[in-house]
Amino acid sequence: MRHQKDWFKELVVYQIYPRSFKDGNGDGVGDLKGMIQKLDYLKELGINAVWMSPVYASPNVDNGYDISDYYQIMDEFGTMEDWEAFRDGAHERGIAIIMDLVLNHSSDLHHWFQESKKSKDNPYSDYYIWRDPSEDGKEPNEWQSVFGGSAWEYVPERGQYYLHFFAKQQPDLNWDNEEAREKIFDIIRFWNEKGVDGYRIDAISYLDKGLDGRANMEELFGTASCANLEGTHRYIQEMVRKTIAPDHLMTVGEVIVNSTRDAWNYTSASRGEFDMAIPFIPPIVEIETWSPENLKKTITETYEATKEDGWWARFFSNHDKPRQVSLYGNDSTCWKESAKMLASFLHTLPGTPFVYQGEELGMTNIKLPSIEDYDDIDTKNYYRTMIEEGASEEEALRASQNISRDNARTPMQWDASANGGFTEGTPWLSVNPNYVDINAEQQMKDEDSIFRFYQKLIGLRKEHPVLVYGDFRMLTEEEGKLIAFTRSLDGETWAAIHNFSAEECRFGHEALAGEKTVMLSNYGRTGLDGDSICLKPYETIVFSVK
Ligand code: GLC
Ligand code: CA
Repeated sequence: MRHQKDWFKELVVYQIYPRSFKDGNGDGVGDLKGMIQKLDYLKELGINAVWMSPVYASPNVDNGYDISDYYQIMDEFGTMEDWEAFRDGAHERGIAIIMDLVLNHSSDLHHWFQESKKSKDNPYSDYYIWRDPSEDGKEPNEWQSVFGGSAWEYVPERGQYYLHFFAKQQPDLNWDNEEAREKIFDIIRFWNEKGVDGYRIDAISYLDKGLDGRANMEELFGTASCANLEGTHRYIQEMVRKTIAPDHLMTVGEVIVNSTRDAWNYTSASRGEFDMAIPFIPPIVEIETWSPENLKKTITETYEATKEDGWWARFFSNHDKPRQVSLYGNDSTCWKESAKMLASFLHTLPGTPFVYQGEELGMTNIKLPSIEDYDDIDTKNYYRTMIEEGASEEEALRASQNISRDNARTPMQWDASANGGFTEGTPWLSVNPNYVDINAEQQMKDEDSIFRFYQKLIGLRKEHPVLVYGDFRMLTEEEGKLIAFTRSLDGETWAAIHNFSAEECRFGHEALAGEKTVMLSNYGRTGLDGDSICLKPYETIVFSVK
């Protein structure tokens, strides 16, 4: 499909994690048939793009992020015909399709790797990153994989190690090999032909490994040592020029952002890389370091870095992070208020908002009773490492519950029937027991629900270009848990104030002087008097000022 140049700016993207969205055949695993059943729900919510986490053939060591055949649909998810039916149903409803491209690595069961590991001189021998052992017979260097443990794995047939930034079943592809690159581009061309509208491109900051000494081992840890090297940008530009730019397909890169320069490099139109970026921050780092103060800083920085000719993706949640209402809000006493506030905050910022499945219902984290109940490879490795380092089972479990990516992966809560209406079988991962109170059916009936609030927000963005194209000005540079800003376009100004705490706080600013019309409130406010406002716990208020 051919798109207008800047069409991606007007998207609201909904991320589906297919395994957990809706089971269409009762085997306990979400699938494409289930996704088709829920297209009307997505339409009702108002989103206009769906990013689906990988649906390609995969042994599921990392739930689809280990692809064994890029041209096939995973059996558990259905067939190519099912995928096409989903595509058509989405397009009929004005919803664009964004596929997840995992191109840094493949599965070890991909036939390229199966061949590559056999010998040093077969046609695929150079498709992956192979190195001889170091002088003392050990790993070529000390790099750690993102999921823990060495990033190198020894293969006796070749007498060599291969590099894997993630699990050992996810060998890194060798982008320095031109033939391999062309084979990768062919995959993209195939999906372009199938009518895809855009791509979310996985873990793409490490294409150039810098193993010749350019990786920064001193300053950055593990695999991040080689993030964002020159060759990575060169390969991304080549890929975009050859496969994506001609049709203005939308791209969002999942990247490492260490500086505002990185933000600009990846997203400025003049460089021809991505339209926008999703910065990757390990959940454990995010949990330990996030604060409203830091949030203010990064919001302003990314805006400044990209405002001339770039753009940014705005998200709190995805399949790699804890649930947003549990992490950034308050999932007990201020559950509804804080879920709405977080939504309002994201959707009033400059950039394209991303909604992760279940976020629109205020779905929360889960604490599974034993490590056996978890599925996520990252959680299991993390638990094992903690035990090895001397933690008690209880400590290790508690820490794992906190960081686990399974928090975001528990099945969608559709209604109050068994398993939250996700499946008629046994779900592959436990459904959060709070589905009885938190579910889509109930919220669609309730005018005051989180779902209805999202619907309103998405509608506002469609109707008022100021929320999409308006200039941004941060009003709360100073310390504090309040984040207030304005958006302005063609003489129109909107203000948005968000309280990131359970305490009341007062806010006033000269930019708020004038007649105010309330556009959105999570406390049912219909009017505002005076120039200073007392905000309630987790209150959000959006208004125009004349
Ligand atoms: C990305 C994905 C994550 C996956 C990893 C390896 O970070 O979002 O789920 O485990 O890449 O592909
Ligand atoms: Ca199924």
